[in-house]
Amino acid sequence: MTPYEKLLLENKAWANEMLENDPDYFHRLSDIQTPDFLWIGCSDSRVPADKITGTQPGEIFVHRNIANMVIHTDVNLFSVLDYAVNYLKVKHIIVCGHYGCGGIKAAMTDHDYKYVLNMWLRNIKDVYRLYRDELNAIEDLESRADRLSELNVKEQVLHLAKTSVIQKAWKYNNSPDIHGWVYGLKDGIIKPIFDMKAGTHIDPLYEYDDL
Ligand code: CO
Repeated sequence: MTPYEKLLLENKAWANEMLENDPDYFHRLSDIQTPDFLWIGCSDSRVPADKITGTQPGEIFVHRNIANMVIHTDVNLFSVLDYAVNYLKVKHIIVCGHYGCGGIKAAMTDHDYKYVLNMWLRNIKDVYRLYRDELNAIEDLESRADRLSELNVKEQVLHLAKTSVIQKAWKYNNSPDIHGWVYGLKDGIIKPIFDMKAGTHIDPLYEYDDL
């Protein structure tokens, strides 16, 4: 059996197990999707949103990309955000980074990762620039990268608050709250870093007054 065939076999075993516990499980789930959470996380295979939060299918709407970035020209992310906020009406958005993030570490080097990756990682370099003094004062490179993971999560939460999608939802629904977390690969624990309650004011430069 090839490794990918094993995935299909495991899938059958899983589906059977779910049905044994609850014969109506898939029927019920296929009818309705009302998750309370939107998860914006890193693509890293070691950070599965549902497993580390003990949530079940139907509970978290998920978007993942390298280093959990919120980039304002990312149509994929913004479609997910629009749908989650305006149709699913999620109550919380979680931006979850992780310590030991390869994307974060790569952005700290001067290595040329070629066109597309350079383009993506440059957004992380922009976060580094904002906090350069604090980060450069941390001598240990691993600790410095971990701190950048935390600061990056904070900046991505702020990026969400700068969007008209979020500002409109805050104004008319007083929801969703936004949370910035960082997950520890070494201990499995999530550390809350930065929160924005619905309605929090941000730099007026980014606030729309005609929503
Ligand atoms: Co990562």
